[in-house]
Amino acid sequence: MDLTVTIVVVLLLVLAGFGSSDLAQDRAECTDKLVGLATCLPYVGGDAKAPTQDCCNGLKPVLDKSKKCLCVLIKDRDDPSLGLKINATLAVHLPTACHNHANISECVELLHLAPNSPEAKVFQGLAKAENNSSTPASSGN
Ligand SMILES: *[C@@H]1O[C@H](CO)[C@@H](O)[C@H](O)[C@H]1NC(C)=O
Ligand SMILES: *[C@@H]1O[C@H](CO)[C@@H](O)[C@H](O)[C@H]1NC(C)=O
Ligand SMILES: *[C@@H]1O[C@H](CO)[C@@H](O)[C@H](O)[C@H]1NC(C)=O
Ligand SMILES: *[C@@H]1O[C@H](CO)[C@@H](O)[C@H](O)[C@H]1NC(C)=O
Repeated sequence: MDLTVTIVVVLLLVLAGFGSSDLAQDRAECTDKLVGLATCLPYVGGDAKAPTQDCCNGLKPVLDKSKKCLCVLIKDRDDPSLGLKINATLAVHLPTACHNHANISECVELLHLAPNSPEAKVFQGLAKAENNSSTPASSGN
């Protein structure tokens, strides 16, 4: 559980702490939402085969009310200051793994990305791959 606490603290610091403009605002808005997803990190980091029930319970309100926050997490996946290992493929697959739905293409609009920007293409590519995939990490239980 210490690890979870550490991760939450890191997320809070990082998300609240820096950046500018729209993204900073999105991050600030999402900080408390993403804390609920701390238990998902072993899965999105590739260390766990399947998300835990805690993770899925935390994900649901994010998908219902703050889907943008999942987009922010995916967008920030490679930010070295996050110090987190986030596999975008798995992050995109998380809602499906939790028997939920998310249209990741919507991130382009939710984050106000220019439709032809490289960032937008990343999301479109991820959405397509997720749509194609049956189950990237088939669960063992
Ligand atoms: C992310 O996870 C997928 C599915 O498990 C895997 O195929 C891919 O190699 C991983 N990517 C990275 C960068 O680890
Ligand atoms: C997903 O969202 C995109 C962009 O809003 C939309 O064009 C597409 O039709 C949606 N796909 C599904 C399956 O809802
Ligand atoms: C998704 O499916 C389309 C057509 O079925 C294929 O051309 C494309 O390569 C697939 N993409 C991925 C990432 O598997
Ligand atoms: C998902 O894949 C199916 C079949 O490959 C395709 O018909 C559908 O348009 C795709 N949906 C999106 C949102 O790309």
